[in-house]
Amino acid sequence: MNHQPVEGFSKLSKQRKIDWLISEYLSNDRSYEQILQQYWNNNAELQKLHEEFSENTISNFYMPYGIAPNFLIDGKLLALPMAVEESSVVAAASKAAKFWIDKGGFKTTIINTEKLGHTHFIFNVESHKLLHFFNFRLKKKLLEATEDITANMRKRGGGILDIKLIDKTSEMPNYYQLKASFDTVDSMGANFINSCLEQFGKTLKQEVAENEDFTQEEKDSLQIVMNILSNFTPDCIVRAEVSCKIEDLKDDSGISNEEFAWKFKQAVTIAEIEPFRATTHNKGIMNGVDAVVIATGNDFRATEACAHAYAARNGKYSSLTHCTTDNGIFRFWIDLPISVGVVGGLTNLHPLVKFSLALLGKPSAQELMSIMAVSGLAQNFGALRSLITTGIQKGHMKMHLFNILNQFNATEEEKQYFVTYFKDKTVSHHEVIAELEKLRNK
Ligand code: MEV
Repeated sequence: MNHQPVEGFSKLSKQRKIDWLISEYLSNDRSYEQILQQYWNNNAELQKLHEEFSENTISNFYMPYGIAPNFLIDGKLLALPMAVEESSVVAAASKAAKFWIDKGGFKTTIINTEKLGHTHFIFNVESHKLLHFFNFRLKKKLLEATEDITANMRKRGGGILDIKLIDKTSEMPNYYQLKASFDTVDSMGANFINSCLEQFGKTLKQEVAENEDFTQEEKDSLQIVMNILSNFTPDCIVRAEVSCKIEDLKDDSGISNEEFAWKFKQAVTIAEIEPFRATTHNKGIMNGVDAVVIATGNDFRATEACAHAYAARNGKYSSLTHCTTDNGIFRFWIDLPISVGVVGGLTNLHPLVKFSLALLGKPSAQELMSIMAVSGLAQNFGALRSLITTGIQKGHMKMHLFNILNQFNATEEEKQYFVTYFKDKTVSHHEVIAELEKLRNK
């Protein structure tokens, strides 16, 4: 069937949008409307709030919201809120938290909290002339021109930290940047940074136009290409770590402490040197990080982009975590660049985000960075622990069992039967189906 483009879709009411979709794409089958409606909230105000988070909203898309308790982080015992659809992520986090609770827990250090943004521009001018103009006039003007925008942030202890002129002409003809660093305190700061940068673009244009040291030809060559924050924040970074004596590394799989430590370190080293493994290894870390990022109303696309750019910062994609086993001590840590906020964005709007932040004791942005890094480290510990002992499928499929059973509309009794059935066995899709068929044919 050929579909027609729609005009003014965003202006249609929610009902008219749904009507149009059902007639245009869903063969006029009204049962699809019920699927959408069953996810609407009965509380009209709450429903409206959710609809207004984005455009063209016709329903809500739910994700499980779970809790991983027993996280001892810098001496505080926390229960982590995790929004994630993948079965076994919350269970793995909880198991790792419990493993470390009697070994001193997780320790974190904020290494730096500097965020970055750039005005990217093209200017056909001698570099030294531009540098002189930047040092002796422009930099001061950029700071003055953004005073109104930065006033509140400065009151909170943040603001623009520095602005540099970067010469990129060896990589692209006439390409320069104004590279600015910011402290955005407890906010992620994307709007603040972008507002400052857009003002930089305007001020740069104006100051060049008014400056008599530039020829008319030079002035005409200036093009502000874009002003935008960078989601790569290698200097907004937190370290989370665990350590213990190798003799205390007791695992219940039957493997000795020494073998556990040795195999674990090999697994991390493989992720450090082999990008194919590093990608999966880091994906597992982000299972833990993103679940907390989402539950606290932060931007998981930004945290993903930043983590992977950092993992490739030396020109080869590598592991975000590291491990040593020197002098009888097992040490495992992550350096995670991550830019998140506890004010602004969804934090004051989304009721579950408010709940998450309250549950975490209303953390500062730095404390939240630490919690997210711990969640990633714990997730990676859990994954590697399974991989080097029982294999990943045992725990994974145990959690996936309910997804398989739900596909076959299993009753509560049938579910109970399968929990007992697979108590000492690894769950397989094939075996669930075969056994369910037997059970139902009895
Ligand atoms: C699955 O979501 C994540 C893992 O593959 C991570 C890993 O292999 O380290 C289990």
